[in-house]
Amino acid sequence: MLSKMMATPLAALLLLLVSLFGVANAAALEVDLESADSIKAAAKLVAKKLISYYHGDEPGQTPGILPGPPPDAPYYWWQAGAMWGTFVDYWHYTGDTTYNAKTFQALQFQTGPPDNAYMPQNWTASLGNDDQGFWGMSAMLAAEVGFPDPPADQPQWLALAQAVFNTQIDPDRRDDVCGGGLRWQIYSFNGAGYTYKNTIANAVFLNIGARLARYTNNQSYADWAEWTYSWLEELHYIDDDYNVYDGGYDYNNCTVPNRAQFSYNAAILIHGGAIMYNITEDEKWKTRVNGLVNRTLEFFFPEPDRVMVEIPCEGTDQCNTDQHSFKGYMHRALATAVQVAPFTRDMIMPYLKASTAGAARACLDDGTCGFLWNQTYDGDIGDGPAGQEMSALAALSTMLIALDGEVEKIKPPLTNTTGGTSVGDPDAGTNVHIAQQFGPIEGKDRGGAGFLTVVVIVSIFTTLLWMAMEWSE
Ligand SMILES: *[C@@H]1O[C@H](CO)[C@@H](O)[C@H](O)[C@H]1NC(C)=O
Ligand SMILES: *[C@@H]1O[C@H](CO)[C@@H](O)[C@H](O)[C@H]1NC(C)=O
Ligand SMILES: *[C@@H]1O[C@H](CO)[C@@H](O)[C@H](O)[C@H]1NC(C)=O
Ligand SMILES: *[C@@H]1O[C@H](CO)[C@@H](O)[C@H](O)[C@H]1NC(C)=O
Ligand SMILES: *[C@@H]1O[C@H](CO)[C@@H](O)[C@H](O)[C@H]1NC(C)=O
Ligand SMILES: *[C@@H]1O[C@H](CO)[C@@H](O)[C@H](O)[C@H]1NC(C)=O
Ligand SMILES: *[C@@H]1O[C@H](CO)[C@@H](O)[C@H](O)[C@H]1NC(C)=O
Repeated sequence: MLSKMMATPLAALLLLLVSLFGVANAAALEVDLESADSIKAAAKLVAKKLISYYHGDEPGQTPGILPGPPPDAPYYWWQAGAMWGTFVDYWHYTGDTTYNAKTFQALQFQTGPPDNAYMPQNWTASLGNDDQGFWGMSAMLAAEVGFPDPPADQPQWLALAQAVFNTQIDPDRRDDVCGGGLRWQIYSFNGAGYTYKNTIANAVFLNIGARLARYTNNQSYADWAEWTYSWLEELHYIDDDYNVYDGGYDYNNCTVPNRAQFSYNAAILIHGGAIMYNITEDEKWKTRVNGLVNRTLEFFFPEPDRVMVEIPCEGTDQCNTDQHSFKGYMHRALATAVQVAPFTRDMIMPYLKASTAGAARACLDDGTCGFLWNQTYDGDIGDGPAGQEMSALAALSTMLIALDGEVEKIKPPLTNTTGGTSVGDPDAGTNVHIAQQFGPIEGKDRGGAGFLTVVVIVSIFTTLLWMAMEWSE
């Protein structure tokens, strides 16, 4: 390509101008998407940049978390959980073990003993069902890709995912309002978020359920995933054209969905749906996956360039720190769908490739990546930058499934009978009951007054967070 361009003087001049401009503004990351070595080298740079935003394993810091939560520093607890999943996938696709030890420590440190259901006390103030679930999905992934198993006396990946699932089917976390379904927040003191029954909380639950069903061959998990999909449809959170909306409030029985379409909702459903299709081979699931993928590609990967855009907030520059990480979940979900529902491959691959090329163009040659993928590096660090870095890393590493010679090495998610070695515990998490934990304050170790102060601060804070979110949506 390059030598052909150099053949014409005009092109050479253009190239010179571009590189001069480039030197002044730092050069873009170079990557050849036809070359595994080139993809791996680029991903390695991006991974290195991403880990530079993590300080949890430094003296005096808390392992597992990114700097936060707001307003002290940018990141909520959940985003680190999603980042470790991104690193697990990075290792799975590229084979680079550089970050496995940090990833392992993080996924173990935040389990929240003794229940080990990813509900550590420290993060109660921002612990939604989805927050918990993002950590659960990362543990599930560790089981599916054969990430090194913890020693027998530590929580196992599969059991951790089962624990998250079991806490989310507990009657304390479910009620009949809106016909059932999870609320966004777990704790009622977490303000308005508790009155919101949203798609992501239920999509993540469905996702973990589908994957547990596939891994363990236990039908109960699949039944819950089936039920949840139907519930999302009944409330028109997923409409007849496979648009996926954000959620609804309990005070009008969830009949008026917030119609914002954030990509993580669709992504997590595509992943879970593709797994359900894989295990059931049911036409119903094929239709759903086909519909969701089709609508997703058209909506989030607009023609002609097919580079992913976080539609509801990107054009107006209103995406928050969370939303800066969403593109990564979409790329990872679509790559997994290609593996477990191969009928989607021809549909998905051209879009993944175009979008990944965009992601790379939006990075600098030191691996610093931007959020806007349809232009060169945007210098956007205000709302991250770990999220945009996670997204670029996800796009680059999953791209290896496009290459002969690599795709054969990348194993589809394992199960208990196809090489998965993670040990489960079907009863994990069943001792967690919210009312019991948070009922009588006096009965707890923590000072009553201190705890009440925390509750008040948390409520004020959640309200502010909520207002900010409403504004951005
Ligand atoms: C909880 O916070 C304390 C105090 O900062 C810290 O020592 C501990 O490691 C944290 N635990 C988790 C699981 O984040
Ligand atoms: C609330 O919504 C659910 C789910 O659509 C429905 O089954 C139930 O009848 C509704 N309840 C009321 C009071 O409208
Ligand atoms: C997985 O397979 C092993 C060996 O066959 C078995 O002992 C174990 O109980 C299985 N675990 C689950 C969760 O099905
Ligand atoms: C989505 O489906 C429509 C109708 O079958 C088709 O025309 C369109 O090309 C599909 N889009 C994508 C991105 O697959
Ligand atoms: C990139 O996407 C944004 C958000 O949709 C849009 O506003 C902008 O016009 C696009 N830029 C280019 C160069 O296509
Ligand atoms: C399920 O996934 C496996 C592993 O990728 C794949 O070989 C198989 O074709 C999938 N099943 C269906 C029905 O697509
Ligand atoms: C299947 O999963 C359900 C839900 O967690 C659990 O109650 C049940 O014990 C599991 N069954 C087996 C055989 O593991």
